[in-house]
Amino acid sequence: MKTVIFPADDPRTPKKAAEIIRNGGLVAIPTETVYGLGANALDEEAVAKIFLAKGRPQDNPLIIHISCARELERYCHDIPDSAWHLAEHFWPGPLTMVLPVKDCIPKSTTSGLDTVAVRCPKTAVTRALIAQAGVPIAAPSANISGKPSTTTAAHVLHDYGTEGKIDAIIDGGPCEVGVESTIVDLTGARPRLLRPGGVTPEELSALLGELEIDKAVLGQIANDTVVRAPGMKYKHYAPRAEVYIITGTSEAAATYVRRHFTQGDAVLCFEEELPLYEGCNPTAYGKIGDVKSLSAGLFSALRDLDRPEIKTIYARCPEGGGVAYAVSNRLKKAAAFRCVNAEVEA
Ligand code: TXA
Ligand code: MG
Repeated sequence: MKTVIFPADDPRTPKKAAEIIRNGGLVAIPTETVYGLGANALDEEAVAKIFLAKGRPQDNPLIIHISCARELERYCHDIPDSAWHLAEHFWPGPLTMVLPVKDCIPKSTTSGLDTVAVRCPKTAVTRALIAQAGVPIAAPSANISGKPSTTTAAHVLHDYGTEGKIDAIIDGGPCEVGVESTIVDLTGARPRLLRPGGVTPEELSALLGELEIDKAVLGQIANDTVVRAPGMKYKHYAPRAEVYIITGTSEAAATYVRRHFTQGDAVLCFEEELPLYEGCNPTAYGKIGDVKSLSAGLFSALRDLDRPEIKTIYARCPEGGGVAYAVSNRLKKAAAFRCVNAEVEA
C-alpha cells in the first residue's frame, strides 16, 4: 500500500478521505495550526494505529476534532457556559478545550482520563472531512513523537515516507498559525491554560475574566510529575542539536554568539538580525517585527536545522505576551529551558 496524497482543493477529497477514516485508516489532515495524524476517535483499533505510527507514549491523550460547536454535546457532559462563549468567539480556530468526557469516547483516545480535549479546526477541507465521516477525528500533531511538529505536507512525507505507514495525506499547503492550538482546561475551579497557542492568554482572560497558567507552560517538568496535559512533560519539538536561547539586545546576543560559535554550530534568529550573523550559519524563522511570521516559520526552521552535523543551535526568542508567548514556549521546550542572558554572561 502506498500513501495517497489528496489535494485540499479537489472537491472529492473530503469524501475519499472520510472513507479511509470510516474504514479505520490514518489520514494526515491540514489544520490552521499544524498537520494532524487523524483516525476515527471512536474506533480503538484505529486510534492504536496513531500511537504506533508516531511512536507516542500511551499515557499521552489525543485531541478530538469536531466539525462544529454543536457536536460538543455528543462527546462531553457538564459543559460550562464559558465553553460555549469560547466556542462562539474562537471556533473554528486554534483553541482546544478540556471538558468532562462521555462514555462513547474510548479510553485509548483519552488515555483513560475522565476528560477529553476537543477542538474545531478552521481549515475548511478538514471540517468537511469530519462532517462527511460522521465521527470525531482524533489527531495529535503528525510529527514522529518528540520531533518538531509538521506544518507542511512535505514534513509529514518526510516523517512517514510514501510506503503506506499512513494511508493518506491531505495537502492543504503550509499552516497559517504554525504552532499547535491553545489548550484551556475548563474542568477545574478556574480555567487553566495548559498550552499557549494562536488564541492568546490576553484574549482568553478578556473573555473568561480569569485564567491560571499551568506550571508545565512555565518550566521543565520532571518525568514522574503528574501534569494536567500529559504531553507537556515530554521533551518536545527538539532537533537533535542542543538548543540555547540567547536573550538580550540583538547586538549583545550576536557578540556572545560570535565569541562562542564553533564550526558545525548554527544560529536561529530573526530576519532583521541576519546581517549580524554572517559566517555563523544563520537561519531566520520570521521577523521580530511580525510575530505571526515567527510562529508560522518556527517548526519548519527547527526541522531544517535537525541535521546530524549540527551540534549546537543558538536561538533568538521573542518575549512578551500575545502570540510571542506561544513561540517562546515552544522554543524554550526545544531548548529544555536552557537560556543565556548575553547582557550578563560573556
Ligand atoms: O493544534 C493542535 O492542537 C494539533 C492539531 C493537529 O489539532 N494537535 C496537537 O495534538 O497538537 P498533540 O497530541 O500533539 O497535543 C495535544 C496535547 C498533548 O500535550 C496532550 O497531553 C494534551 O493535549 N491533552 C490531550 N487530552 C487532554 C486532556 N484530556 N487533558 C489534558 N491534556 C490533554
Ligand atoms: Mg504534538
